[in-house]
Amino acid sequence: REIHYFSEVDSTNNMAKKLAEKGAEEGTMVIAETQSRGRGRRGKKWISPEGGIWMSTILRPHIPPADAPKLTLMTGVAVAKTLKKEFGLDVGIKWPNDILIGNKKVCGILTEANAKFNTVDYVVVGIGIDANVDTKIFPSEVVHLATSLKKELEEEIDRVKLVQSLSKIFEETYEEFKSGNFPDILNDWRNLSTTIGSYVEVRKRLGKIVRGEAIGITNTGALILELDDNTLRKVISGECIHIE
Ligand code: BTN
Repeated sequence: REIHYFSEVDSTNNMAKKLAEKGAEEGTMVIAETQSRGRGRRGKKWISPEGGIWMSTILRPHIPPADAPKLTLMTGVAVAKTLKKEFGLDVGIKWPNDILIGNKKVCGILTEANAKFNTVDYVVVGIGIDANVDTKIFPSEVVHLATSLKKELEEEIDRVKLVQSLSKIFEETYEEFKSGNFPDILNDWRNLSTTIGSYVEVRKRLGKIVRGEAIGITNTGALILELDDNTLRKVISGECIHIE
């Protein structure tokens, strides 16, 4: 399979989309040492210095666009399992797709789907891991929210080995997804999740906020909250903050 390696790109997701538009096949990867315009969820900027792992993979699953969020959950499971296996780290997943060590984020996932008619044409799965990143370079607003593998492990990690291990586990998890075993993946997600069982606040678009206890996840990846008045509420997307 093809791996496109760059010392710098604007965003590996953008580059992967361009390749997908030109017909690149499933499994094609884009990886870069730095990104000049790395993108996070909700239009946020993603700081992507040297030492990190910034990569995107093209998938072409035969699924309706509404099922694309499942791939985000699947990717979170693959990353969490990889970090556990390679470093024995006690990682957790914060809904929908932040990989945490303790309560600090070490990896973010940005899945972007493109549909033709009512089927997915391609999905770009972007993974950003703060591997050998010096946390001193984080801006003050994220310094208490984010960490890096180097910081947590107190040494530099072998990024090539990590990417190889992640690619293998990612591929295995994706094969499981394609064979219809999403319920098993979702079970792994539940077990890795630190959100389920927490009292959370979810900030939705247009400044809307919902608070409640996260009690579960639907089979399409929506979070189920029990509000203070005991009613249940399904939240499809938003920014989640663990309160207690
Ligand atoms: C988030 O948590 O907001 C998602 C961050 C995703 C960052 C990765 S780095 C590789 C890929 N290219 C991008 O521009 N973004 C994703």
